[in-house]
Amino acid sequence: MSKRRVLTGITTSGAPHLGNYVGAIRPAVEASLSGDYDSFFFLADYHSLIKCQDPERVHQSTLEIAAAWLALGLDPNKVTFYRQSDIPEIPELTWLLTCMTAKGLVNRAHAYKGAVQLNEENGDDADFGVTMGLFSYPILMAADILMFNAHKIPVGRDQIQHIEMARDIAQRFNHHYGEHFVLPEAQVDDDMAVLQGLDGRKMSKSYGNTIPLFLSEKKLRKHINKIKTNLLEPGQPKNPDESTVFQIWQAFASAEQASEMRAAFADGIAWGEAKQQLFELINGHLAEPRERYIELIENPGEVEIALRAGAEKARVYSADLISVVREAVGLRPLG
Ligand code: TRP
Repeated sequence: MSKRRVLTGITTSGAPHLGNYVGAIRPAVEASLSGDYDSFFFLADYHSLIKCQDPERVHQSTLEIAAAWLALGLDPNKVTFYRQSDIPEIPELTWLLTCMTAKGLVNRAHAYKGAVQLNEENGDDADFGVTMGLFSYPILMAADILMFNAHKIPVGRDQIQHIEMARDIAQRFNHHYGEHFVLPEAQVDDDMAVLQGLDGRKMSKSYGNTIPLFLSEKKLRKHINKIKTNLLEPGQPKNPDESTVFQIWQAFASAEQASEMRAAFADGIAWGEAKQQLFELINGHLAEPRERYIELIENPGEVEIALRAGAEKARVYSADLISVVREAVGLRPLG
């Protein structure tokens, strides 16, 4: 029996932070090393153009995200790791799907609806600032998924609607042109680690409360020192379950280290000392990948080679699928 195919895209915007690592990168790398899945991971750089129209940032961010995944142990020999824009069949499939997608379906997409709602609140034209890229975003995403007939799509909650739309589009296509697509399912991990940021809210770029993954030691220490704490003095017992310092500790610690820190909190460890230990723990995890990351950033050609090789692997499937689908819709050679 062939393995379950798992596929997920990473939008290439900004440098990855500790929350991305704990919530997405680490579990994905671990699952791929287990060998239980046929994993497809890709850099969603076409998607990044919807939000970011600064060419230098688009380019740099692709390098940073690819280098981060590779430095953190993603083995391109065990998975198919590629860049969306290296697969010309994806935009081609996007069009074929676009012609099978009801506009009314896409009208309901959260990102688009949110933009329209904001415009209405501001008294602007409903479509002010809305590009066709933003509107059609779910169809491009459907093409990403259906192209490789992936079964399971690990995503955050905010993306469930998009997977459901991909299913709807696949269903309509299959109904009209014959069974060509697997119906994908979202895989949402309910106890997926959600890391807290510097201010105690979810660590997220949009809150500006992140700890970037590959800071220098000095800057990492500075960021950790900024984690919000209460005013309890050294010697006063502290509640680990209300502490961001402890929450982040737990995400990196072994079970034993976690219970040791719990005990230290009960004993009234000073915040400065807890943060010092947290710095050492995280730095210990990241020191080696950091070196590798820097090496890759300085040698982008190496990343390029890995991505091209990944695209070649991916295109074995995508070229096949697109030729079948073109045939199915009637785009065929004459005579
Ligand atoms: N839209 C996704 C996000 O913002 C990224 C993405 C693009 C994706 N294409 C995908 C995720 C296909 C899963 C499958 O997180």
